[in-house]
Amino acid sequence: MNHPVFHIVAIDNNNGIGKGDLMPWSLPGDMRFFQQKTTKTDDENKQNMVIMGRTTWESIPEKHRPLAKRKNVVLTRKKDYQAKGATVVHSIEEAFDLADNSIERVYIMGGASVYAHTIDRPEITGLYVTHIDRIFDCDAFYPEIPPVFSHAEKLGEDEDNGIPYEFILHTKA
Ligand SMILES: NC(=O)c1ccc[n+]([C@@H]2O[C@H](COP(=O)([O-])OP(=O)(O)OC[C@H]3O[C@@H](n4cnc5c(N)ncnc54)[C@H](OP(=O)(O)O)[C@@H]3O)[C@@H](O)[C@H]2O)c1
Repeated sequence: MNHPVFHIVAIDNNNGIGKGDLMPWSLPGDMRFFQQKTTKTDDENKQNMVIMGRTTWESIPEKHRPLAKRKNVVLTRKKDYQAKGATVVHSIEEAFDLADNSIERVYIMGGASVYAHTIDRPEITGLYVTHIDRIFDCDAFYPEIPPVFSHAEKLGEDEDNGIPYEFILHTKA
């Protein structure tokens, strides 16, 4: 697969990413960043692919899934799982194999198990990480960012309800 592959995630100061299947914060500016980043393509004839674990898929309200204008791919080990409007796969290799000429970029959008399972894979080009400058009560965590992602580019910053956060793209130098 020759496509660029990115993680896209929001983390707090303890690498916390969620609690009880949900995110413990509401940051509209981060949601906007996620929507724009995962939807926008340079080639209008192409779409991006979003890959997510079954739990993350189920945490999206039904009226918002599949995520519009993106190819939605759901990972599960369940044999007959159905995800309306999405493609169900049983391994990350099977997910990557779906990235044909109609796909521009691949975004891995969680959750914890999928991030942990893929962060060391050679296919990963970079990590779009929203660093939230707070500590929340979390039971799901993002892995430590591996040293190979030594280059950090600040793309912007925002604040919602007094909670500041920065958008950083971590790439391999
Ligand atoms: N902060 C953020 O940016 C962000 C983004 C997304 C999610 N989250 C948080 O992450 C947490 C959810 O993470 P999670 O780890 O519990 O759930 P998850 O990664 O979304 O989904 C886990 C499920 O995905 C399937 N799966 C994972 N790896 C697989 C593989 N290699 N092959 C086949 N199937 C695989 C399995 O489904 P089956 O059980 O069906 O076999 C597994 O139970 C929540 O708290 C959520 O809020 C945070």
